[in-house]
Amino acid sequence: MDKQKMIEEINRLKKEKNAVILAHYYQEGSIQDIADYTGDSLYLSQIAAETDADIIVFAGVHFMAETAKILSPDKKVLLPVAEAGCPMADMVTDIRLTNYKAKNPDRVIVAYVNTTAKVKALSDICVTSSNAEKIIKHYKNDKLMYVPDKNLGAYLKEKYELDMEVWPGFCCIHNDLTLEHLATAKAKYPNAQFIVHPEAKLDLVHKADFIGSTKGLLNYTIESDHDEFIVGTEDGIIHTMEVNSPNKKFHILSDGLKCYDMKLTRLEDVYLALRDEQFEVEVPEDIRLKAFEALDKMLKLS
Ligand code: 13P
Ligand code: SF4
Repeated sequence: MDKQKMIEEINRLKKEKNAVILAHYYQEGSIQDIADYTGDSLYLSQIAAETDADIIVFAGVHFMAETAKILSPDKKVLLPVAEAGCPMADMVTDIRLTNYKAKNPDRVIVAYVNTTAKVKALSDICVTSSNAEKIIKHYKNDKLMYVPDKNLGAYLKEKYELDMEVWPGFCCIHNDLTLEHLATAKAKYPNAQFIVHPEAKLDLVHKADFIGSTKGLLNYTIESDHDEFIVGTEDGIIHTMEVNSPNKKFHILSDGLKCYDMKLTRLEDVYLALRDEQFEVEVPEDIRLKAFEALDKMLKLS
């Protein structure tokens, strides 16, 4: 089937089945273009919680589709590529977190949304990169453990002077970014502002003109008077930045800054997921109920 025909079929199936397509900013441009909603992990979870569609096709990675299912248990949630995961989410397991909690019963567990349902179920509250700063202020006087991103954790800990332990996980995309990448990009584009996702290491984050979630970075480029940016996050966001600001220039901080798992999804996978209603994401109800509490608390404080 050619691309145009496939897009027509996706749109027909969406209507016929009362389905909605959610796509994260790190998806290929063609996937973002056919989505009903494109956004960061917070926005997409808010949409998942509110939609009255019968089917949610989540073009993203497993923890995102799982989050949609936790928030909307009566909907059928489909992940177009069953094996699309997040390596960082897998760096904290429920068994290890259970052990940690047994040894540290006084620590409030703050879980990045990039975690499995089982880990969310063991946590007191979830955060995403766009609401972490707002939410963490409510816990300023508590003893905390932040799982699993050591970089975002270090950023929060430093900025808000928290009594917070940090799990040693990381995003293999953002954690690989270095000061050398920045020096090279700055030499090439001396007039560009540097903007970065807080999953990058703290030494790099300290050099940024702006730090934000994918949505935060996008909004900044739209609203800023500057017209050239070095972008320190996954390259899928460049598509949306260019669509929103066609007269501005965007340079990715380092070539090949791609999340392998996010880039597994092709248009055909979205079509097949819709057509065959395949790769449904399920969460056992006892885990879902506990994970829901942590997510719901987050959405109320967002
Ligand atoms: P956002 O919360 O900015 O969407 O980030 C999700 C993610 O996976 C970043 O690597
Ligand atoms: Fe996970 Fe990093 Fe990919 Fe985001 S970019 S989904 S944190 S591996």
